[in-house]
Parts: sequence; C-alpha cells; structure tokens
Amino acid sequence: MIDYLFANNEIKGWIFDLDGVITDTARYHYLAWKKLADEENLIFDEKINEKLRGISRRASLEIILRGKTFPEDKIEQMMARKNSYYCEFLNELSEENILPGIMPLLNNLKFLGIKMAIGSASRNTEFILEHLGIGHYFDGVASGSFVVRAKPAPDVFIHAAGQLGLPVADCVVVEDAEAGVNGAKGAGFRTIGIGPADRVGQADLRLDSTENLKDLIS
Ligand code: BG6
Ligand code: MG
Repeated sequence: MIDYLFANNEIKGWIFDLDGVITDTARYHYLAWKKLADEENLIFDEKINEKLRGISRRASLEIILRGKTFPEDKIEQMMARKNSYYCEFLNELSEENILPGIMPLLNNLKFLGIKMAIGSASRNTEFILEHLGIGHYFDGVASGSFVVRAKPAPDVFIHAAGQLGLPVADCVVVEDAEAGVNGAKGAGFRTIGIGPADRVGQADLRLDSTENLKDLIS
C-alpha cells in the first residue's frame, strides 16, 4: 500500500483536511452544537456528533434537525449562533492543539520541497490556521468558503490541487472523515485515512493516528 502511495516519488503535493487531521476541533464542534440543541430543545449527543465529521455546517444542522423544518431565516440564525459559540472555543486554540506527528511531517515535507495545501469544509479555516500559527507551511488553502458543493463532493480538494498547480494524480489527501476519503478517492486522489476502519477503511492507506504519519516521510 505504501508502495502504491509513494511509488517513484510521484507524490508532489499533500492536501490536508484540517479538523481531525491537523487539529482536533471535534469537541468544540460538539459543545457548540450541544449548546444550540439544548436551547432549541433538540436531541443531540456525542454519537450524533460523530456523523458530522467532515460535513458542512448546513448539512450538520439538517442531521441534528432530523427532518424538522424551519424557515430559511431561522436556519441561518441557528447556524450563525452555533458558529459564534464555536468561535469562542476556537479563541483558546494554540500550537499546543496541533495533533501528534503533524509538525514533524510538515517540517519534513517543507524540507523536501513538497507542496502542501489545506482542503477543509470549514469556513473558519483561516482563523484556525492563524491560531495554530502554521499558515506559512501551506502553498494553498482551500476551504468551505470557496466552494459551493461540500464533501463528499471533491471540489475543495480539486481547488487545493489547482492552487498547488498539480494534477489530482500527483496529490495525496489526508482525511479523518468518511465523506472526505470518499470524495477524494472518487476524484482520483490518493488517500490516507486517519481513524478506524469502519470510518476510513476505504482509504488507500489507513492509520490509527496522525502520530503514524511522520513515519511515512523522513
Ligand atoms: C469540518 C468539520 O472540517 O468543517 C465539520 O469536520 C464542520 O464538523 C465543517 O461542520 C464546517 O465547519 P465550519 O467551521 O465552517 O462550521
Ligand atoms: Mg476532518
């Protein structure tokens, strides 16, 4: 599998998902959605939160609403409220919240002159990168703010590859979400999945943790 991923040094670009790969914001998303759900008397727990991994803000709210309908202005207002709660948590983020193995990998890739980009559904991508202090590592930042179709559509990854000036086949996408792996793989990217097999087992290479990423490039 690793041979397939790295054959002939073909990989010229690494595209990283942000939430769950570079930093673990799932808890903050959970707490923010939970606060909104409690205010709106909606059932929400950690199990439902798992389904929101990689999914856009609107699609997440639709999952939480479970078929309940509201006028568009109320939907917009709920999304904005959740985001304001989430951003309060994000203010606490610092380089200490970068997941294990990420900094050695970014440093090695930089040293080797391999291009890197972010491909994230989050509209808070720039804000998060700023707090983590690692924005300067990336030659491209593609996020939910720039594409219409959210993951599992591959648009954000294709946008990232375009920013790197590379064809899809020369890039690997690192993802922790099923939707992200499916989208990237379907578009012809090589994929590394971070997490359990029942979530990202379809990736070309699956690793239990970001910690193992640093062993791939040294
Ligand atoms: C993804 C997260 O990275 O971004 C999802 O995994 C989240 O849980 C999505 O819903 C959108 O994020 P944001 O910050 O734009 O609400
Ligand atoms: Mg993710």
